[in-house]
Amino acid sequence: MLTPDQIAIIKATAPVVAQHAERITSVFYPLMFERYPEVREVFNQAHQHGGSQPRALANAVVAYASNIDNLGALGAAVERIVQKHVSLNITPPQYQIVGECLLEAIGRVLGDAVTPEIGAAWTAAYWQLANLLIAAEEKEYRRKAELTGGWRGTRRLRVVRRAFESEVITSFWLAPVDNGPLMDFTPGQYLGLRLDIDGATVQRNYSLSDAPNGKTYRISVKREPGGLVSNYLHDRVQEGFEVDAFAPAGEFTLAQNSKPVVLLTAGVGQTPALPMLDRALAEGRQVIYLHAALNSAVHAFRKRVDSLATEHPNLRHVYIYSEPLPGDEPHYRGFVTPEILQRYAPADADIYFLGPKPFMVHVNRMLRDLRVAAERIRFEFFGPMEALD
Ligand SMILES: Cc1cc2nc3c(=O)[nH]c(=O)nc-3n(C[C@H](O)[C@H](O)[C@H](O)COP(=O)(O)OP(=O)(O)OC[C@H]3O[C@@H](n4cnc5c(N)ncnc54)[C@H](O)[C@@H]3O)c2cc1C
Ligand code: HEM
Repeated sequence: MLTPDQIAIIKATAPVVAQHAERITSVFYPLMFERYPEVREVFNQAHQHGGSQPRALANAVVAYASNIDNLGALGAAVERIVQKHVSLNITPPQYQIVGECLLEAIGRVLGDAVTPEIGAAWTAAYWQLANLLIAAEEKEYRRKAELTGGWRGTRRLRVVRRAFESEVITSFWLAPVDNGPLMDFTPGQYLGLRLDIDGATVQRNYSLSDAPNGKTYRISVKREPGGLVSNYLHDRVQEGFEVDAFAPAGEFTLAQNSKPVVLLTAGVGQTPALPMLDRALAEGRQVIYLHAALNSAVHAFRKRVDSLATEHPNLRHVYIYSEPLPGDEPHYRGFVTPEILQRYAPADADIYFLGPKPFMVHVNRMLRDLRVAAERIRFEFFGPMEALD
């Protein structure tokens, strides 16, 4: 527990830390990876180089310090971090490592400004947040272990089928090597995978792209140019391949209500929307499925969505192609526009969106311009949360 004096110190020094937050995290990560090379494998190094993970951590530290006397304000952000950590099996001893290196990085960047009192206050603040996350994560680990077909830590899954979905997306069906049941997940959640590729251990998240069925999980992976894991999966993973997986996690899920649902996706961002679509239809909700792709060559799952639309009068689907091929017949050509959104999105609908970052920025701006209330909007990033403004 922080003392009132420590709370006052955190509030007084938070603006200085905020000002230097990105420098602090850019000192922190190399320091941690050099001192504790074993934690390197849990982080996606592309997110380090692009700066998205250091920024996400810096933003979290700043948001936390600014709300030190009102932690309830952090609710959704904390849940997102907890889910991401759980999907990658983050453990308490790793908090020791992060704490040591983060506090040292603060000291290195701010120098003599960090008096012993300030250092002690930030140490206490770090551990207050760390303990909150550790407790919430432990609760999740236990809950998943107790579910039918659930587990804790890694479980060996085997690829039992793979299928071409588009020129760039391939699906993989995974079943437990132990032949036991597989826990149900909430549509929209993702799996954490740990792979050994040419001697290096790497971890990645993949959304579950088909409804839960107790026996297999499906992931659908886009080949990223220059991407380590996606190319490995596409080029070297066939039926029979085994991989370590952590239990599904994630908070990009349907809000529990009966409102209409708009699922607005681009490219491989479609993956979590597919089980969400199944679930919303099963609940009898009105669904508007808007999908943007370059053209038919890279448009995955079209047959599936088309056939659902013929079976369910409450599903409206709209395809938008920015670079249609000769013979392509999308509903619209170009990009998603405010007119398309206004035409199809019911005024009371919840809107879920996901796609490449430029698409996310564009959609976020449109929704803001259309004055859609923030509580009606949810989105996911295929990486650490980034600012959309
Ligand atoms: C919650 C969540 C759900 C996801 N769901 C899906 C999904 O359903 N389907 C899917 O396909 N993906 C999904 N992803 C993304 C997935 O986790 C991977 O990030 C993606 O497959 C790319 O991984 P990779 O190893 O192939 O590429 P990486 O090796 O991570 O590289 C990514 C990009 O960064 C570039 N890069 C790598 N290293 C460097 C460097 N040092 N300097 C500069 N550039 C570099 C690469 O060239 C490449 O373009 C999801 C991610 C999250 C967080
Ligand atoms: C108080 C301590 C911590 C805070 C405030 C914190 C904060 C965050 C935040 C904000 C994210 C991004 C979430 C998202 O938007 O998806 C994240 C992701 C992550 N965190 Fe933590 N974290 C802490 C401790 C740890 C520890 C101890 C580890 C393990 C070494 C860890 C490993 C990770 C990993 C691997 C990711 C995903 C990174 C990626 O996608 O590249 N974190 N954390």
